[in-house]
Amino acid sequence: TGSKRCLIAGNWKMNGLLQEARDFIAAFGSNPAPESVEIALMPPFTLLHPMSAQLAEMQIELGAQNVYYEDKGAFTGSICPLMLRDAGCHYVILGHSERRSIIGESNAQIRSKLNASWLHGLEPILCIGETLEQRERGITNMVLAEQLAVLKGAPKNAPLTIAYEPVWAIGTGVTATKEQVTETHAFVHEELTRLGHDCRVLYGGSVNPGNAEELLSCPGVEGALVGGASLKADSFMQIVKAAI
Ligand code: G3P
Repeated sequence: TGSKRCLIAGNWKMNGLLQEARDFIAAFGSNPAPESVEIALMPPFTLLHPMSAQLAEMQIELGAQNVYYEDKGAFTGSICPLMLRDAGCHYVILGHSERRSIIGESNAQIRSKLNASWLHGLEPILCIGETLEQRERGITNMVLAEQLAVLKGAPKNAPLTIAYEPVWAIGTGVTATKEQVTETHAFVHEELTRLGHDCRVLYGGSVNPGNAEELLSCPGVEGALVGGASLKADSFMQIVKAAI
């Protein structure tokens, strides 16, 4: 995992009611936070305020799954960076493949969201990843470079984490092989260096208690962005432990 502190982040996606959040906190709370691993949770917007204080006590960082790029005003249905800060967020996930493919989010919009997040002191977790078709056509690196190009001209010391999530590994139970992860993370780190960013690169896509240790041991992997397996306190804790 290298010199950077490893991050295990749980993306709850569109899951989680108040009672489930309470149950999660009760079950997770009995585990002391390990010093070598940073833990973060990204519940849906409606759970940010209710979870904020207790997660802070447990030394778990809070994050959101998306943000809008305007400061305030007539943007019905949108949430701005300052609202996320107000709810206690440190992180915001940007460019998740589900938003790119289902909502049609573009690299240009993601660039605006990065800027707005930095302006208000949020740390973006920028998600990148190729589809199966793109991998089979051999254009994985080109796709990733294009997605990372939103960082061109970004402030060099801006807080940033990247999550490499191969689209074909998200929610499928299929993970990338050690070789694929190692090779792709090496390319992502190279691109980041070229763009002037020395930041953590997480792996995401069907990470679970059974495969976490192997995936986290790949060179260039500095943590995981976990979907399904972050919904249950015990499986999420097992993944955290695999990172110690
Ligand atoms: O952001 C995390 C994610 O896309 C991976 O989801 O359910 O495959 O762990 P999952």
